[in-house]
Amino acid sequence: MCGIVGYVGTKKASPILINGLKRLEYRGYDSAGISTIEKDGISLMKDMGRVKNLENISGINDLEGTIGIAHTRWATHGKPSKENSHPHMDNSKKFSVVHNGIIENYESLREDLKSKGYTFYSDTDTENIPNLIHYYYTKYENEKGIERFLKSVRSACLDLKGSFAIEVICSDFPDNMIVVRKDSPLVIGKAEGENYLSSDIPAILSFTRTFYLLDDYEFAILSKDDVKFYDKDLNPVNKEVKSIEWDAVGADKNGYEDYMLKEIYEQATSTRETVGTRFQGPKTAFEELDFTKEYLSSLTRIYIVACGTAMHAGLAGKTVIEKLSKIPTEVDVASEFRYRDPLVDEKTLCIFLTQSGETADTIAALKLSKEKGAKTLAISNVIGSSITREADLSIYTHAGPEIAVASTKAYTSQVVLMNVLAIYMSEVLENNDQKYLDSLKEEILELPEKVEETLKISESLKDFARQVYQEKDVFYLGRGVDHAIATEGCLKLKEISYIHSESYAGGELKHGTIALIEKGITVIGVLTDKNLVKKSISNLQEVITRGAKTLIITNQKDLDTKAFDVVVTIPESNTFISPVLAVIPLQLFAYYVAKEKGLDVDKPRNLAKSVTVE
Ligand code: G6P
Repeated sequence: MCGIVGYVGTKKASPILINGLKRLEYRGYDSAGISTIEKDGISLMKDMGRVKNLENISGINDLEGTIGIAHTRWATHGKPSKENSHPHMDNSKKFSVVHNGIIENYESLREDLKSKGYTFYSDTDTENIPNLIHYYYTKYENEKGIERFLKSVRSACLDLKGSFAIEVICSDFPDNMIVVRKDSPLVIGKAEGENYLSSDIPAILSFTRTFYLLDDYEFAILSKDDVKFYDKDLNPVNKEVKSIEWDAVGADKNGYEDYMLKEIYEQATSTRETVGTRFQGPKTAFEELDFTKEYLSSLTRIYIVACGTAMHAGLAGKTVIEKLSKIPTEVDVASEFRYRDPLVDEKTLCIFLTQSGETADTIAALKLSKEKGAKTLAISNVIGSSITREADLSIYTHAGPEIAVASTKAYTSQVVLMNVLAIYMSEVLENNDQKYLDSLKEEILELPEKVEETLKISESLKDFARQVYQEKDVFYLGRGVDHAIATEGCLKLKEISYIHSESYAGGELKHGTIALIEKGITVIGVLTDKNLVKKSISNLQEVITRGAKTLIITNQKDLDTKAFDVVVTIPESNTFISPVLAVIPLQLFAYYVAKEKGLDVDKPRNLAKSVTVE
């Protein structure tokens, strides 16, 4: 995801900015750029690709400016290109801006600005911001000094819908920078005679260990010796400076002990980024796809093909895709699919789910489907990854880089994106009531808050993990989509705690597994599908009778839960998106168990993040 760096001081800004961008490289990006204030105005240098390309731009070493902004871009609106990379300037070249986040109302803002005579050179949502600031700057021409700049930034921000962390410089104020954030991280590092900015502490940790953390809609004016803070109404705010004790390695994890924990806690943001602006209009926006009613109506089958966690996301996605499109949908393990001569032809749509976009079996399965005449759609988290270059169509989860081997936020983003895709397909097919589809959209838009709530509730599982961590076997049960969720939870435990675990469809219990249940065995039940809850409870009763210890994850508020040892009640949701919420306690449970065992959760033995060989 995008990264931001900024500097105001007495040293040359450009090497500091470039160093900061390098420290943010792990976040993943496709282009980079910087703007500094020089004697003759604002300089702008940017390029596609690595920070190295930016460093090689001729003249970059001649920049003398001691104030500047910098950015690494992870494309959301508009493909990776030099034009779309940040910083972006207004038409008059007075303002330069970098931005993280998504401006949801960018289309209407752009139209409005166009009607006022502004022109645009990029496809980004960000380019609106410098022009909006300029627009207000001309309106506030009677204001004196930095007030005029601050008021203009504020008015522009109040027009923005969505998430943003913004740095702005203005050629009229060569000693200042204004910054603001909403739902996107931004920290200010305070040092002697200089101030730094970054979206992540690691980028500037080598310069300072004292930071100001900005709250939503807080504005800051930075100069080399000072930082002034203002609230949304521009009342001055006194801000406490925080000292950070992290070492460089710990800070890379943004204060979390492990990348996995960080990524689990990022799921409110990542699922929000996955939806982005797709639900902004009356119909779901998927300009990357060329599906017509005729094409979708001609389909006899959809295959979802993937490996590991992505395959489990496919199991969860199957429900919503099949129910809304009314097209038979099957989920296949890529390594099986590629060798079983599947029934695929031009009437088949093949969807390939892969976080990395580099998994060898998934790529091979895609090539096979193409040869057999199917249309292929890749769903990946990495822009420009191998699978997206092979597929007929590609869409991205925009979950941000996932570093821990055990996948967490990529899974939830894949489930969310398949929900969005299913709604889009149904709208193209015109086969469901639009009011019903709109209500599903509403629920998806409410997900980030529910994710936050679920994260808090799930922390209670630490105690249960202490009871379980020395066990040899753990069983997971569920029916329907709850079985898919249980299967992903079971994989998480296996991957990072090395405890043998199995996931069963509740009804299968009697056909063998129940022979393994004895006193003290842990059984985890997932109960979110209200039509199946009673059936699953009967299965859980069968294991309780045989002495099992039970944990249930449920969103059913009026359930009689007396019989269970531990109950985690998560927020209510429809069954299409319940995997996003119900998997969170299971992820955290696996994490806590592995930590109790003292294991390296980020790099479990024998496993790789990206499996590029068969
Ligand atoms: C490896 C990883 C898993 C991942 C699977 C598929 O096994 O350890 O976390 O789910 O590959 O990866 P993909 O990048 O295709 O989603």
